[in-house]
Amino acid sequence: PIKAAIFDLDGVIVDTAKYHYMAWRRLAEELGFVFTEKDNERLKGVSRMRSLEILLEVGGLADRFTAEEMAAMAARKNEWYVQYISGMDESEILEGAVECLAGFRALGVKTVLGSASKNAMLILNNLRLVPYFDVIIDGTRVTKAKPDPEVFLLGAKEAGVKPEECVVFEDAQAGIDAAKSAGMKAVAIGRPDELHGYDRIFRGLYEVKPREILEQD
Ligand code: G6P
Ligand code: MG
Repeated sequence: PIKAAIFDLDGVIVDTAKYHYMAWRRLAEELGFVFTEKDNERLKGVSRMRSLEILLEVGGLADRFTAEEMAAMAARKNEWYVQYISGMDESEILEGAVECLAGFRALGVKTVLGSASKNAMLILNNLRLVPYFDVIIDGTRVTKAKPDPEVFLLGAKEAGVKPEECVVFEDAQAGIDAAKSAGMKAVAIGRPDELHGYDRIFRGLYEVKPREILEQD
């Protein structure tokens, strides 16, 4: 039986992709190239440093910078990103997210955050979502980025449940792969032509009925 529901943050509970994109695009502009919204799709679910590597690749600037310069660029991007997300409030919670979290809880299922972002706490605080989670695992707690299952396995451990008793909600392919390699059930949030390897797929949490997820297991 399912005993814990693990949620990715960016793209599942809140649409921060647009703010990540604004900050990455600004960095690309400084470096003298255009970073499109389509390029930005490749950064979903990917760690900050790996995102920078992909961005530089897109700009034809791969391997041009030292580790120190790269760290400074990532830090600058993050400063901008933090500025953008500091203005967020509850109106930016995606449709159905609160109902879904509360719905699982009402059925006795633990709610867990499993995010790669080091800014997850800032976002959850601004959106007043902290009380909806029993366990919060963010990018400050893990060393291996998705598709490594570390973030989800740690979430299961802290929730006191086995991996096979978890269902993961993810919008990124790296996250779906991470859930499957953790031995968990993967529910994709997105479009069937863009994702694969999931157990179920929905367009958003507004389509998810917690009771049905438990019954189908
Ligand atoms: C999530 C987002 C990625 C982002 C990563 C790290 O997985 O989908 O786009 O790069 O978190 O976020 P951070 O806030 O730590 O830079
Ligand atoms: Mg995501």
